[in-house]
Amino acid sequence: MKTIVVFNQKGGVGKTSTVANLMAELRLKGYAVLGIDLDAQANLTAFNKVINPERTVRDLLLNKCSADDVTVHCKYGDVIPSDTSLQNELLRFASMPAFVIRLRDILKPLSSKYDYIFIDCPPAVNQVTAAALVAADYVIVPAEAEYFSAVGIKMIVDTVGQVKPLNPGIKVLGVLLVKYQNRRNLTKSLESVLNENVNKLLDCGILSAKIRFTVDIPSSQASGLSVRDFKSKSKATKDYEDLSDEILKEMKK
Ligand SMILES: Nc1ncnc2c1ncn2[C@@H]1O[C@H](COP(=O)(O)OP(=O)(O)OP(=O)(O)O)[C@@H](O)[C@H]1O
Ligand SMILES: [Mg+2]
Repeated sequence: MKTIVVFNQKGGVGKTSTVANLMAELRLKGYAVLGIDLDAQANLTAFNKVINPERTVRDLLLNKCSADDVTVHCKYGDVIPSDTSLQNELLRFASMPAFVIRLRDILKPLSSKYDYIFIDCPPAVNQVTAAALVAADYVIVPAEAEYFSAVGIKMIVDTVGQVKPLNPGIKVLGVLLVKYQNRRNLTKSLESVLNENVNKLLDCGILSAKIRFTVDIPSSQASGLSVRDFKSKSKATKDYEDLSDEILKEMKK
């Protein structure tokens, strides 16, 4: 079992889209997949059509139920859902002893059940993202090729650095460029600045797979489908397939 955390404190950079489509790709390849929604916005939950779940990741993190109790079987794999109540617990989590290692301990016994666990993080650095990073084997950082992303990478390095004492094996697989438009000169020049920063700071690079900008992504989400099921010939279908191949290869190293 490998736990892959999709993290960037910046909002709207394609974290949830990446988790949703990677789950679908790996499921298609025959792997047992679990997606954990750690965001109170509950976008991954809604995408997977889990409506008003009785129990959520909040109950799991408060030790009120087991992972099995909270897991919902969905089209693209199992899902541990979230809802807005997660937001109200941040202070309580902060005061709970050893909270940040709790998720890691909860996931350990699931190793016989799943090949891959994907964790969708909120656009924030808080107790919950810290818990995700402590549980992570790998981290993928989706980012847009724009100036502020280069600044954000530095923050991500600091955050990953903070959890390293608790999770020395954590590995950032790379930065995933999303909403990519390779004809834009701006994108090209920023890509090289970003690549330099990433190499220098994260000990990894920009992933070869890039997710191109296409309305097929928002449209597929509106229909509750992976982009492949929505439009198999979409460029994003090819891009997420390439991404899944690349990360599987990387993890076998
Ligand atoms: N490759 C793409 N091309 C066009 N639009 C995209 C692409 N990827 C994601 N989007 C759109 O961008 C918006 C933000 O994506 P998404 O919700 O995945 O980001 P996020 O990082 O999870 O956001 P948040 O930080 O709020 O959780 C969504 O409307 C999504 O449909
Ligand atoms: Mg999201």
